[in-house]
Amino acid sequence: MNFLVSARRAELLSSNPKLRDLQVAKQNERLEKNYDRAAWFYERAAKVYSTNQIRSSKRFQLKYIEPGDKVLYLGAGTGEEAVMAARLGAEVTCIDISQAMLDVVQRKLGQESLSAELICQDAFDHQRIAHYDVVASNYFLNVFRRQDMIKMLGFTATLVRPGGRYMVADVARSQGNILAQAFNIFYLKLAMFAFWMLGLVPLHENYDYCKFFPDAGLETEHVEFFRYAKIGPVLFQSIVARRVT
Ligand SMILES: C[S@@+](CC[C@H](N)C(=O)[O-])C[C@H]1O[C@@H](n2cnc3c(N)ncnc32)[C@H](O)[C@@H]1O
Repeated sequence: MNFLVSARRAELLSSNPKLRDLQVAKQNERLEKNYDRAAWFYERAAKVYSTNQIRSSKRFQLKYIEPGDKVLYLGAGTGEEAVMAARLGAEVTCIDISQAMLDVVQRKLGQESLSAELICQDAFDHQRIAHYDVVASNYFLNVFRRQDMIKMLGFTATLVRPGGRYMVADVARSQGNILAQAFNIFYLKLAMFAFWMLGLVPLHENYDYCKFFPDAGLETEHVEFFRYAKIGPVLFQSIVARRVT
């Protein structure tokens, strides 16, 4: 019975764009509130949990950013890497649905007299097609269910100018020996479960982003892996791709 009700609901939503928009708006409102609440601890928690490797995976991207580049950070959160890019002289734009997250970015920029454009909006509503030299989706695509992630990747890839770069720092799929693989799965699922309990992410598989790039008009150039405490199993990755179409 429950299955029939959900199936009917899904059918209704897909056949009625207004209902779907309403549902997306409701979901975003919930997500926005939950990320607002997480703004004060998010970065510190990520640092401890990842033995600072989340930061390293984002700092790695600076190698591909030149002073003056137009760089967009999607789901920028507290923006540690956006501040690094601004220090480098890039023209930085940060988008996030959580104003509390952007307030943290603003505070950090202010402390160093740096500036960036901060926009509180759903990334889907950002219409600067082919505008950016670099678009970075860091630990962002991971907050979506598979189908929504594919749509978000496809849309946000169009924000990069042809020949520009799309970069993704995020969790990595398991690799290495069986123990390393088990650690990766256990450690990353534990975090996903905790985030799910806080209403920050849905439960989903660990995405193989490079697999989805060709359909988004992207070509993988380089993948750098980051290990737990630098020497343990691979947990994070920094993917650099080019927009080819
Ligand atoms: C897991 S956090 C990652 C934050 C940051 N990029 C980092 O690496 O630390 C995901 C961020 O995406 C934001 N977000 C979620 N859905 C969004 C959407 N549809 N549009 C824009 N931002 C969104 C959340 O508010 C949150 O700050």
